[in-house]
Amino acid sequence: MRTRLVEQLAAEDIDTLREAGHLATELGARLFLAGGAARDVALGIPHEDWDIVLEGDAPAYARALADRWHGHAVIHERFLTATVRLEDGVSFDIATARREAYPAAGALPVVEPAPIEEDLWRRDFSINAIAVALGSDDWGDVLDPTGGMDDIDSGTVRALHDRSFWDDATRIIRAIGFEQRLGFAIDPETERWIRQAAEGGALQRVSTERLGEAILPLLRNSVGPDALQRGNELGIARALGAGAAFTRRALKGLDDVLDGLAALGEARSAEHRSLACLCALLLGHRVTADAIINRLHLDRFAARGLRSAERFLKTWPSGFEPARRDGDLWGQLRECDFSAVMALWLSTDDAQVREALARYWRRLRGSKPDFSTQRLADLGYPQGPALGQALREAVRVKLSDGASADRQFAVAGDVLKQANSKQNRT
Ligand code: CTP
Repeated sequence: MRTRLVEQLAAEDIDTLREAGHLATELGARLFLAGGAARDVALGIPHEDWDIVLEGDAPAYARALADRWHGHAVIHERFLTATVRLEDGVSFDIATARREAYPAAGALPVVEPAPIEEDLWRRDFSINAIAVALGSDDWGDVLDPTGGMDDIDSGTVRALHDRSFWDDATRIIRAIGFEQRLGFAIDPETERWIRQAAEGGALQRVSTERLGEAILPLLRNSVGPDALQRGNELGIARALGAGAAFTRRALKGLDDVLDGLAALGEARSAEHRSLACLCALLLGHRVTADAIINRLHLDRFAARGLRSAERFLKTWPSGFEPARRDGDLWGQLRECDFSAVMALWLSTDDAQVREALARYWRRLRGSKPDFSTQRLADLGYPQGPALGQALREAVRVKLSDGASADRQFAVAGDVLKQANSKQNRT
C-alpha cells in the first residue's frame, strides 16, 4: 500500500514532486498530493491539475520553492494558498492544510490552518479525501482517514457527514458527476442526505454562477443526459426552474440526446452535447428557455441557442412537418441553428421527420447559390429584401431541381425583374 499510488505517476512528475517534498521536509513541513489528483492517480486515470497541500506555512514554503526553482511566488494570504510560477509558464499551486467553517448554508467558508487529517475530513467525498505524502521521510505514505481507498475499490461515492450538502449544495451535482463519469454508485445514506438537502432547497441558495459552473461541465460530457436524469431522481429539477420534476417528455428527450447528436453529426462536440441536453428540458414545457438561461448563468452563445430552440418548437406546435423537396426543406429550416434543429429532432419519434432534419443539418444548411452575387449587383440590382428573395429562390431550385449556376442566376434575375416592375407600378 505504501507506494501504490505514487508508482502510478509519470517519471518526470515523480521527480518534481520528490524535489518539492524534499524542500518541505527541510523546512520542517509536510507536503501532500490530495483531492482529485490523488483520486485519479489511484484510479489510474489522468488528472489535469495537482492538488498540493502543505501542513505548515504555505507562503514561506512557496517563497523557498520559487527561489530554488528560479520562479516567482504569488501569495494569497486570505485563502492560505500560494502559486509558484516558473519561467517556462508552468505553475504549481499549494494550499495550506485547513479547516473550514461555514457561517451560513451556501456562504463561502472561513478558513484557518489545521492538520492534514482535518483538511481531509472537511472534503466532499471519501474518494476525494485521500492524501499521498511527498516528504523525504514519508514519501508515498497514503493517508486515508475516511476510507476513500475502499470506496474507490468498491466504486462508491460517499459523503463524509450529514451537513455536507447543506455546507455546499454544488456537491450534489459533483456526486452525480462522479457517479456517472466514473461508473460509481452513490452510497444509500449519502443519497438520503442529497435528497433531504435538495428537498429543503439547498441548491436554490447557490448562486447561479456556481450552479452553472457545477452543471455545465457535466453536460458537456457524454454522460450529461444520464446525469440530468439522475439529478431529476434526486430532486434537482426545482433548482433549474423546472418544477418538482422534469416531465416525461423532457426525460424521453434526454434519452434520445446521444442518438440525436449522432444523427446530426455533432456527437464529438462538447458544446453541442451541452446544448442538446438543455434543449431536451424545454420539451416538457415545464421550464422556459429564460429560466434555464438565468438559473445556469448561460453564456450568450448558449442563451441564443436555447431561445432559438424554444421559438422554433413554438413555430411547429404540433410537430415539424418537413417539405418533400430539399429546396423547400431548406426554406423551412434555413433560420434554424443547431439548437432549434436538435430540439425539433428530439420533439418527434417519426423516423422520416428525423431523417429530414438530419439531412438539412448535415447537407443543406448554409447552402448558397453557385453564382457570385456580384453578377446581380453588376446588373444594377440594389441590396434589399428583393435581392434576398432572389437568392433564396436560386438556392431552392439548386437544391430541389439540381439547377445549374446559369439557371439559378436566371431564376434570381426573374425574381428581381418581377419585384422591379411591381415597384414601378406602385
Ligand atoms: N472539494 C470539496 N467540495 C467541493 C469541491 C471540491 O470538498 N464542493 C475538494 C475535494 O477534495 C476535491 C478537491 O477539493 O477533490 C479539488 O476540487 P476540484 O479541483 O474542484 O475537483 P476534483 O475533485 O479535482 O475533480 P475534477 O477536477 O475531476 O472534477
